Amino acid sequence: MEERTFTIIKPNAVAAGATGRIVDAFLREGFRIIAMRLVCMSRNDAEKFYAVHRHKAFFDELVDFMTSGACVVLLLEREHAVAQLRRLVGDTDPARAEEGTLRRMYGESVTRNAVHASDSVENARIEASRFFREEEIIEVRYRPQR
Ligand code: CMP
Repeated sequence: MEERTFTIIKPNAVAAGATGRIVDAFLREGFRIIAMRLVCMSRNDAEKFYAVHRHKAFFDELVDFMTSGACVVLLLEREHAVAQLRRLVGDTDPARAEEGTLRRMYGESVTRNAVHASDSVENARIEASRFFREEEIIEVRYRPQR
């Protein structure tokens, strides 16, 4: 089943110059990029994006971090996109993430964990709609040139 999922390359990974390597990992795993943009989130953006965590002890730290620099937001498409991206991204805690996962490679802590990946198709749709208008989503099929 073709699905869409939403991902954020977080400020620590962008600042470390890892954007290209992370985008390359998405493409190598068969994801098609159907929308992509560099953004600086306002506090309001980050608080709304992470509203489900509003009452958690780590909320302020999470908002501080997500507003500390530029992020890259992407909408991706492939078969079983949600599960496949979560597998590639790895455990929330980089120290527990498997070897070869993006959080293991680029994450520094649970907060500074390099990459966000949506946990369901419905949440991906809601999260993506905060960053992309419908007309900015481009359904490209990458095929070899003949
Ligand atoms: P993300 O996938 O972006 O979704 C919510 C984020 O909250 C998560 O990645 C972590 O960066 C952060 N987070 C989740 N649990 C904790 C925690 N116990 N302490 C600090 N940050 C957390």
